[in-house]
Formats: sequence, structure tokens, C-alpha cells
Amino acid sequence: MKVGIIGATGAVGQEMVKILAERSFPVDELRLLASSRSAGKVVSTPFGDITVQETTSDSFEGLDIVLGAADNDTAKRFAPDIVKAGAVFVDNSSAFRMDSEVPLIVPEINAKDASWHKGIIANPNCSTIITLVAINAINKLSKIETLYASTYQATSGAGAAGPLEMYEQSRQILEGRKDEIEPKVFQHQIAYNLIPQIGGFDEVGYSSEEMKLQNEGRKIMHLPDLKVSCTCVRVPVERSHAISAIVITEDKLDLDDVRKAIAEAPGAKLYDDPAASVYPMPLVTSDQDIVFVGRIREDLANEKGINLWCCGDQVRKGAATNAVQIAELLIK
Ligand code: A2P
Repeated sequence: MKVGIIGATGAVGQEMVKILAERSFPVDELRLLASSRSAGKVVSTPFGDITVQETTSDSFEGLDIVLGAADNDTAKRFAPDIVKAGAVFVDNSSAFRMDSEVPLIVPEINAKDASWHKGIIANPNCSTIITLVAINAINKLSKIETLYASTYQATSGAGAAGPLEMYEQSRQILEGRKDEIEPKVFQHQIAYNLIPQIGGFDEVGYSSEEMKLQNEGRKIMHLPDLKVSCTCVRVPVERSHAISAIVITEDKLDLDDVRKAIAEAPGAKLYDDPAASVYPMPLVTSDQDIVFVGRIREDLANEKGINLWCCGDQVRKGAATNAVQIAELLIK
């Protein structure tokens, strides 16, 4: 397969290169595309040294698959050229996720939706992927009607510049240079802080990131009536998002059945022994593709509620790995 990556120099793009090699994706040619800022830069990859090219309308000739790891505007701008060149665009931006002509896929949940693509397949939001991999098994036991969630999202979710800003601010504070802090990537200082804003707010007070869990969750799980109430928080963690979720199902579920279903769910790992202080944490789940699920317990406020905590590497399963898994569906 001839594969292109737009945004190949970014946090997700670099991970895509790594994961294509790790998963032995049959790559005959790898084209690394980015902005003009990176053109000419030589990148050492498992597929050899590759020179980064500026992305233009002519960049996609001869490619079979293009993985998108850039922003919405870049995705929208080049999607028509990619489709015209006959390649399939697996895009990680949110530009096409809610387009009714575009499948939105978490392979462990709705791989079959790949069959109706028309040249573009969207990769879901990172927190959405991690949460849905954790709760999909519950939905199979009994339909999920409502999901209450709070996310704890790592700085690398904002791109490669996110963790750099966190560490730089941390250094400035430790060196007594707090006055020099100038937030650029985040709205406020992220070191030693929490920021309850990811994206812009709508007229009723929810952020764009918060609404993705509901809108994308409905499409992926084929649950058009799913209600989600979510708060998304940026936390001073380098990598791996965590989510506190309360799932309300149609029927009351037995906790043992829930644990067994999650233990057997593809892509998920039951990691739940609170008495031994065993539960998912970012430092446990980073640099791998499995979503860890723990702190599973009955909700105290609703007898049909299950309360859980899940955590997963958002650069990998929440973005790059999920995109490569979608590409694998295309060659099956
Ligand atoms: P570049 O490194 O040349 O700026 P991140 O999410 O880590 O910030 O990375 C964003 C990625 O998207 C980078 O690879 C960046 O390339 C790429 N990118 C940004 N703007 C464009 C553009 N106009 N055309 C193609 N790629 C772009």
C-alpha cells in the first residue's frame, strides 16, 4: 500500500509512522506531508529516511490511503484532492465526523460501518474512543440510555506543543520565574493547575469537546437517543486521558456481569482491585493501545447506574492506532 500522512511532523502524525511499522502494515511507500515550515526536513523512520514534503493539491497522486493528523481546515482543504486522486482519507480531525456521508469508526465497536465509505472515514475524538471502548460491553448487556462523564485530558491532546508548555511553566515556577509565564497553547497556566475548558463554549455552556462525546457516541454506538452530560478538563499530565463515567442502562445490571463483560471486551482491560490500589492511571496506560477500566461500582444515586473510571493513551488508541486500525479494515 502507498500511504501518505498529512501532519506527519505532529504528535499524532509521528505516532502514526511508528504504529504502521509496529503493526506491520504493508507499506510500499510512505509519503510524509506537513506544512511548508517542515518541507525538506529529513525524518528517520522504520521505513527509512524520508524527506517531508509540503502538502499541496498534487501531493496524493498514486496513494492508496492518506492518514490525516492535521487540523480541521487542512483536512477540509485537501479532502477533495485526496478523494479525486483515488485514495481513501482516514482523517483524525473533527471536520467530517458528523457528516452523514462519512463513517465514524472505532473498529472494536462498529467496524462494519467502513463498508459504506465514499472516500473519507473519520477517526473519532480521543476521549470518545477511550470512553466508548470502556463502556461498549455494558451497552451489549443492556442499552445505555444516559452517560454522565468527566474527562481528565492530558496536555499532549493539544498537540506536540502542549507538554512542552507544561514543562516550561513548571521550570519557570521552580526557578522562581513565575511572572514570565505566558500561556500560548492553553487558555491559562497548565502547570500545577486544572482548566475546565477544551474548545469553545456553546450557548448553553457546554464546550465543543464535551458535545463530541454525545454526538460521536450516538453515531458510533448506533444509539440515536443516547443522552450525555459531560465536563472536559485539561490536566497537567503528559499523556493518557482518564474519564470518570456513570452509565445508566435500560435494565439494572449485576456488577459481576459488568466486570466479566469488560474483561472480555476487545480493546479493553479490566484493571480493578481497589483494595490493592490497582486502578487505571495515566502512568500505567501510556504507550500502549489498551483502554484500562477500573473502580467499577454501583452508582449510589441511580439503581440502574454503573460508576467506573477508565484511562487510555489518547495519542495511540485515541488517535493514531485507531486510524491505522481503520486503514487495516480497508485492506481486509
Ligand atoms: P508542521 O510541523 O509543518 O507545522 P500538532 O497537532 O502536534 O500540533 O501537529 C500538527 C501537524 O499538522 C503538524 O505536522 C503540522 O505541520 C501539520 N500542519 C499544520 N498546518 C498544516 C498545513 N497547512 N498543511 C499541512 N500540514 C499542516
